[in-house]
Amino acid sequence: MSHTRTDTARVRLQRSELAVPGSRPELFEKAAAGPADYVFLDLEDAVAPPDKERARDNVVAGLLGIEWHGRGKTVSVRINGIDTHYMYRDLIDVVERAGHRIDTILVPKVGVPADVYLVDALLTQIEHAVRIPRRIGIEALIETALGMSNVEAIAASSRRLEAMHFGVADYAASVRARTTSIGGLTPDYPGDQWHYGISRMVVACRAAGLRAIDGPFGDFTDADGYAASARRAAALGCEGKWAIHPSQIDAANAIFTPSDAEVGRARRILDAIVEAEAHGRGAAQLDGKMIDAASARMAQNIVTLAESLGNRGASAAVLG
Ligand code: COA
Ligand code: MG
Repeated sequence: MSHTRTDTARVRLQRSELAVPGSRPELFEKAAAGPADYVFLDLEDAVAPPDKERARDNVVAGLLGIEWHGRGKTVSVRINGIDTHYMYRDLIDVVERAGHRIDTILVPKVGVPADVYLVDALLTQIEHAVRIPRRIGIEALIETALGMSNVEAIAASSRRLEAMHFGVADYAASVRARTTSIGGLTPDYPGDQWHYGISRMVVACRAAGLRAIDGPFGDFTDADGYAASARRAAALGCEGKWAIHPSQIDAANAIFTPSDAEVGRARRILDAIVEAEAHGRGAAQLDGKMIDAASARMAQNIVTLAESLGNRGASAAVLG
């Protein structure tokens, strides 16, 4: 393996991420009390233009007045895109007033590494100016053709960057995919039309040590469709998915948690590899299937994740 080292971003539990419009403060307490690992308070597309300024005040009040961390939540704020005139005040007003209560800033429609640099530079100044003790992380939404075409460079753009998210609806609009659904499959395509985008983003994330998160599934009455979409994302390497409605959270938590059967099999693989090595063999068979050191690496991922989840404590949102 290459000796090029990539530090892994801070590890956080992000199986489910509930989107909460900043213009609906009555939802904040419900979000904090619910089962999502992560919550993002939205200033962008779930907030209509006339409500943008009031949403900022709501978000500040919600960050300051609601107990998030004590209930195991990681809290993120989605600002408006850097191509809007809302973005600078989103960042300055919200982070100056409540930055010590924010874990990450979610930046939509990231197109080039300099978009992340802008947010990083502003955060650095605000953190110094108002003495925020913890470094605020950045998460990038990959949801434009430009962002996807630069996804590897964006992944390496900042030491603050922790995760990238696949924003399926804006991505569909940007590449002009023939759909108006937010996520899910179309009968016109023989497979999963989002496979390429998600997979490309996941590879860029993992190469740079970032978490990979799948975005929304809009039809919250279609529980089976949501679950299938989450399972496809997990199969490609995502470690969590958005919930745009509370009814989607439990499914995400369950699907992105290894099952007892998976963990049991992973432990048996690890045991079998140790035994094979003791007999001078690298490859062996388990239940009629070949296993080797790569099997052990896959199995170790599952066991490590399961053990981290098993040890969830007061600061549940941060693992390890
Ligand atoms: N966060 C917290 N609570 C939520 C919620 C959310 N995102 N969405 C709904 N709820 C609550 C409702 O307040 C309601 O609570 P109650 O039982 O105490 O009355 C309950 O969950 C059921 O909600 P429901 O009536 O089915 O939904 P709604 O009509 O109020 O809202 C949506 C539906 C889709 C508009 C709403 O879920 C929403 O705004 N989701 C997030 C959208 C978003 O952020 N989009 C941008 C990212 S893609
Ligand atoms: Mg979007």
